[in-house]
Amino acid sequence: MLAPSRGRIHRQKAAVAAEIDAVWGESSCTTSSHLILNFAMNRNPTRSILITGASTGIGRAAAFGLLARGFHVFAAVRSDRAAEALRAAAPAGSSARLDTLLLDVTDATQIEAARQRIEAAVGDGGLWGLFNNAGISIAGPLEHIPIESLRRQLEVNVTGQVAVTQAFLPLLRIARGRIVTTGSNSGYFSTPCLAPYCISKYAMEAFSDALRRELRPWGITVSLLEPGAIATDIWQTSGSEFQEFMRQPPPGMIELYGGLLDSLGQAARSAAGRAAPVEVVTRDVVHAFTAPRPKSRYRMGPGSVSRKLQSYLPDRWLDWMVAKKLKWG
Ligand SMILES: NC(=O)c1ccc[n+]([C@@H]2O[C@H](COP(=O)([O-])OP(=O)(O)OC[C@H]3O[C@@H](n4cnc5c(N)ncnc54)[C@H](OP(=O)(O)O)[C@@H]3O)[C@@H](O)[C@H]2O)c1
Repeated sequence: MLAPSRGRIHRQKAAVAAEIDAVWGESSCTTSSHLILNFAMNRNPTRSILITGASTGIGRAAAFGLLARGFHVFAAVRSDRAAEALRAAAPAGSSARLDTLLLDVTDATQIEAARQRIEAAVGDGGLWGLFNNAGISIAGPLEHIPIESLRRQLEVNVTGQVAVTQAFLPLLRIARGRIVTTGSNSGYFSTPCLAPYCISKYAMEAFSDALRRELRPWGITVSLLEPGAIATDIWQTSGSEFQEFMRQPPPGMIELYGGLLDSLGQAARSAAGRAAPVEVVTRDVVHAFTAPRPKSRYRMGPGSVSRKLQSYLPDRWLDWMVAKKLKWG
């Protein structure tokens, strides 16, 4: 069936709005009639959500959770293999509502291609949701972290999220949609030698707060997830990347920071061992995309609430606690 043209939809809205005004007998109602109609007619029968970083972990679980609740999901991955694997594992009966697309958040050409494809698919209904979830984690002492690694960390976790959000905001505005971003408890608690990642997640706190305030007039809600440790591949991928970095450590790093790096390795292994299943995040993602009043922040997983509380302590106390835990200084 052919989709109705914009002009036809506009004429239909105008006609029905005039009928509503005739019934209510007040021309001043025209604006509110149009608002009601825009709301009713612009709603997709099946609402669509774009998820970045959907190949594994939180993004993949969210994709399946949202498909299971009847949403149409545009799952963004970075390879055809990942797309195939995702489609193969999708919940039964949901394949017609799952579209996979290639989207590296640092690639402007791929972002534009994804925008065009999604715009064509959602038509006048717009996009209901954007889940900014893609992320990487890079570790190392600030004195020695290669500046290129820091740039890559910020490019993926910060600039890429902003670029994707900019591209999809016009479609989200049409649907009066929702934006959910995966921050972290590292967005309010800085762990030594995890500064590249923490800097990026602190930035996403600012991103989400500013965006929420900027988009208020359009009723686009903005939520930030602040997970603690969650059992996903990120622990392995960041661990492997760190091992790679340690193969040829910068001169002097081991002599200066070897003790701290050992303690952190132990702390990371222990946190990974206590990590919560990914479903605790999916529950809140679903809430953020479905609740009448989504929260601005969601905390879940070990270390999410406790680190928030610790962040209120005086700096000297907190520094002492961290030093004691890591046996450093
Ligand atoms: N797991 C935790 O304990 C935890 C805690 C707090 C916050 N988080 C955050 O949760 C989010 C998801 O991570 P996860 O734990 O689910 O780990 P994950 O399983 O490693 O997922 C990361 C996802 O990001 C994708 N990605 C990486 N670089 C990308 C890029 N340049 N463009 C587009 N996608 C890219 C990955 O795709 P590929 O498969 O192609 O690499 C993967 O799909 C991240 O933002 C992370 O910082 C995780």
